Amino acid sequence: MPEQSGLPVPPRASFEPALPADLNLINLHDYERVAAERLAPGPLAYFSGGAEDEVTLRDNRAAFGRQAIVPRVMRDVSSVDMSVEVFGRRWPSPIFIAPTALQRMAHPDGELATARAAASRGMTITVSTSASTDLADIAAVGGPRWFQVYFLADPGARRALVERAVASGYEALVLTVDLARIGRRERDLRVGFQIPEGLQIPNVAIAAGVTPEEVASVEFVDRMTWPDLEWLAGFGLPVIVKGILHPDDAKLAIEHGAAGIEVSNHGGRQLDATIASLDALPAVVDAVAGRIPVLLDGGVRRGVDVLMSLALGAAAVGIGRPVIWGLAVDGQAGVGNVLDLLRRELENAMALAGAPTIADLTPELLA
Ligand SMILES: Cc1cc2nc3c(=O)[nH]c(=O)nc-3n(C[C@H](O)[C@H](O)[C@H](O)COP(=O)(O)O)c2cc1C
Repeated sequence: MPEQSGLPVPPRASFEPALPADLNLINLHDYERVAAERLAPGPLAYFSGGAEDEVTLRDNRAAFGRQAIVPRVMRDVSSVDMSVEVFGRRWPSPIFIAPTALQRMAHPDGELATARAAASRGMTITVSTSASTDLADIAAVGGPRWFQVYFLADPGARRALVERAVASGYEALVLTVDLARIGRRERDLRVGFQIPEGLQIPNVAIAAGVTPEEVASVEFVDRMTWPDLEWLAGFGLPVIVKGILHPDDAKLAIEHGAAGIEVSNHGGRQLDATIASLDALPAVVDAVAGRIPVLLDGGVRRGVDVLMSLALGAAAVGIGRPVIWGLAVDGQAGVGNVLDLLRRELENAMALAGAPTIADLTPELLA
């Protein structure tokens, strides 16, 4: 067909678009904003909120603003290698997915969408005890995976939960230690948040041997002390202790069998007014003294946040809410884009900081 319009015909050759497809979604903050427009008030409160005055929630972000990068120049950054080794596995980047509960409340595919997005990028997920999808179904997606353990009150249920995770090929157990009871999240109280009818917590139900409807009656967390960490380490998988802020607790964790530490304040959802994750990191890194990897989560939204965390000694960083925002905006594709945006930002930041490898991310890079 001859061109009739008289307008120039665009070239057919494929090219990298100069601009991303959706200008509303070019960073993780955009995902948060658009997700907030789409989620119902109850789920939005649950996913976004923190405890009480949300001091910690805000400070997790603010802590990154208190650091400054002092970049190096005249170094060959033509290729940047973001890969790291964590527990003997080569990761494409030092970013993993921290556990968040009830992902089907953000998107019908929930944890499966997250697992697929991460698996196709070789990125490690942490599956929550309180996931809204059976841990075995998530395992069937096939990507690298860790399982987050809440210490169920009933010893039989507690053991059954861990045994199922081990049998489903989870590579590490993440013991969350900052939830001796559930923090007071006032956004949830104000909107009267309740878990929607029909949303299940199958890992708990199966472990406790109750019907999905009876899950609410399962006692979730029991008293837990250091010997219980030894019990968990006895299953033979590396145990990462998540929710450490005090350097002395990091030392105790190692004494009692931890293979990794995750510096975290549960995204500001538990005790309010705690130290920000990034601020807690250096003392924990010091106390651990290279014996085991130290991970961090809380407030990571930018490539430069990842860079700063690693410069201060983290082996890798986890993201929590950004995954939820990706899910709420566009399911698996949304999570994938969130992961890609953060990875690309880190790659860019490392190049511009004159740090082409992870080994170049040292404290000297910060003011
Ligand atoms: C909605 C939501 C649910 C969470 N559920 C869990 C959970 O089930 N187990 C757990 O160990 N941590 C849980 N966390 C804490 C995260 O693993 C992580 O510590 C925190 O979200 C990191 O901060 P960020 O959201 O600023 O990235 C949850 C966090 C959020 C926001």
